[in-house]
Amino acid sequence: MKALLTAGGHGTRLQPLTHTQNKHLIPIANKPMIHFALEYLKEAGIIEVGIIINAGDTSFPEVLGDGSNWGIKITYIEQEAPLGLAHVVKIAEPFIGEEPFVFYLGDNILVGGIKKFIDTFKTQKSNCHLVLSQVGDPTRFGVAEIKDDKILNIEEKPLNPKSNYAVTGIYFYDKSIFEAVNAIKPSARGELEISDAHQYLLDHNKKITFSEITGWWKDTGNPADLLEANRLVTDNIVHKIYAQVDESNQIFGRVIIEQGAKLKNCVIRGPAIIGKNSVLVDAYIGPFTSISDGCFIGNSEVEYSIVMEGSRIQDAGIRIEGSLIGKNVDIVKAKSKPRTQRFMIGDQSRVELL
Ligand code: DAU
Repeated sequence: MKALLTAGGHGTRLQPLTHTQNKHLIPIANKPMIHFALEYLKEAGIIEVGIIINAGDTSFPEVLGDGSNWGIKITYIEQEAPLGLAHVVKIAEPFIGEEPFVFYLGDNILVGGIKKFIDTFKTQKSNCHLVLSQVGDPTRFGVAEIKDDKILNIEEKPLNPKSNYAVTGIYFYDKSIFEAVNAIKPSARGELEISDAHQYLLDHNKKITFSEITGWWKDTGNPADLLEANRLVTDNIVHKIYAQVDESNQIFGRVIIEQGAKLKNCVIRGPAIIGKNSVLVDAYIGPFTSISDGCFIGNSEVEYSIVMEGSRIQDAGIRIEGSLIGKNVDIVKAKSKPRTQRFMIGDQSRVELL
């Protein structure tokens, strides 16, 4: 079985972070988001993975190479523009060929992997097997109406959802999906919608079955989702301290402190991760925080946040919480008079002041 994994799209809701990096490379618990998908695919025994990337994006071949680090074989498929998920499937037909495949949206993170869903898809001999999850706000998703254990219809981001069953970004198909994606027309927003392809299969009496995710699943579409995904993943870390941490520090709960990190007079309350060669002095790091490699945190408190590579927080004054801090960002206390708030912030940034 092959897999098709998405790493393209606009990433609009995660600007400004996505101005300088692809959304699927944003770290969750200090690991680029797309690594989770690759690990689930590998664990499910899938070796051949086609990754959809935006035309001209060289970051994935640079970061993931040919996949041999994961023991998989990656084929990069360029999409001329983000024309919709059904368009993604359409252009991947030459890569997939005739065999059944997994379509996995690279911004979805779940616990427990996907192997069990593949097994169900195979046993039920479906044309299409969807993975559903009950959610509080179905209007953000494809929504399935279900009766007597059967999917009656599927609508994309409906204003008045007929159920709270969101269609997650994990799909299993046989070749009938190609008939569907080639038959449907673009939606009002100009995209070939995957939900329309599913509805086409239903309308043409194809067998669509489903599984329900019982653990957690997250579509990391917006900043709050990223922080929540970071919480869920850090909550499952195994305590391991690779660096030398002396007695001036207090460590509580499950914490990963990577090699070369240096800590002095710090309180770390896990679950939290401190990346390689980061330096923390007189710092408090609270639960569900990931500090990436090469950061500096001095005389500051950070909790429930993601701090990316090479960033520096010095004398922050008030605890930083619920924050996404990009790469090589400087947050420092103004030293000179007048005592004012001074910013140098890129487009679409957001700062909340007290
Ligand atoms: O996460 C589940 C939801 O994913 C489903 O409930 C919806 O039915 C489905 O349409 C999709 O909705 P999103 O609005 O979350 O899709 P998004 O545009 O965020 O794209 C999902 C992934 O596919 C992401 O990895 C970006 C990538 N992508 C997206 C488009 C539209 C591409 O690679 N190419 C594209 O053309």
